[in-house]
Amino acid sequence: WSEFAPDVDAINRLKREKNAVILAHNYQTPEIFHGVADIVGDSLALAREAMKVDADVIVLAGVHFMAETAKLLNPAKRVLIPDLRAGCSLAESITAEDVRLLRQRWPGVPVVTYVNTSAAVKAESDICCTSGNARKIVESLGVPKVIMLPDEYLAQNIAKETNVEIITWAGHCEVHERFSAADVRQLRAGHPGVVVLAHPECPPEVVAEADFAGSTAAMADYVTREQPGRVVLMTECSMSDNIAALNPGIDFVRPCNLCPHMKRITLPKIRRALETMQHEVTIDPAVSAAARRAVERMLAVH
Ligand code: 13P
Ligand code: SF4
Repeated sequence: WSEFAPDVDAINRLKREKNAVILAHNYQTPEIFHGVADIVGDSLALAREAMKVDADVIVLAGVHFMAETAKLLNPAKRVLIPDLRAGCSLAESITAEDVRLLRQRWPGVPVVTYVNTSAAVKAESDICCTSGNARKIVESLGVPKVIMLPDEYLAQNIAKETNVEIITWAGHCEVHERFSAADVRQLRAGHPGVVVLAHPECPPEVVAEADFAGSTAAMADYVTREQPGRVVLMTECSMSDNIAALNPGIDFVRPCNLCPHMKRITLPKIRRALETMQHEVTIDPAVSAAARRAVERMLAVH
């Protein structure tokens, strides 16, 4: 930890000077997660907490769509992302024009959009969802059929839990699509008694073989509550690192996959963001009101 101390100290001083808070996703590295973040969580928690912030500046230690969501909910605040190139393969997989074409193909069918999308795509949607509330959002609409974008696997996993028919899009998370059912079987054979937790962005065959599937926050809660002796998290690597530090008695089995986008955010870049007030996230005024409506509709569902 001593190698991180100069940046951690500088960031914590800059936060006070600039009246800033750091919101960090569960996939951020431990020195960010434990060292400088004010609020940590899954995408849903970060959106909810963003609504409550009263600091002048929000630094989003996560990927671009998360910073956009924070900005949508805080139009008057300055929202910074330490590296503008921190994207997401799901957000890249679909455009606003794609959504308009889907609506033409399926007239009257509501569009439920995962938060892992651009503001322009959210603006074409009826309501957003996260991995933590997807089923609840789909069922809240009270309709027999929905379009769910853009994560095909999340949509297929939710379709198994509900009677609502779900039309999917072929977007995938480049981190979670790499896990296979064979990986789960090998892990069980090599690590007797291991409890397997999977993120619902994993292919359905992986979720079917797992003991539990849920958002990053739901996986962390499971580990804290159940205290399995040995566990593997079929998700991004920092997730295990962060919760291992809080649960020293548990054997966390690897492998895991790294998200190159999340890993673009580093302590030196967070420090630089606060020193220079860069990079400010802005939203095209032509889409902001409609995108905000889709996010706020999601947050209004309990
Ligand atoms: P959650 O933290 O909402 O489960 O999302 C996982 C993810 O891949 C975010 O990029
Ligand atoms: Fe996107 Fe997957 Fe990375 Fe999350 S882990 S930011 S869904 S590519």
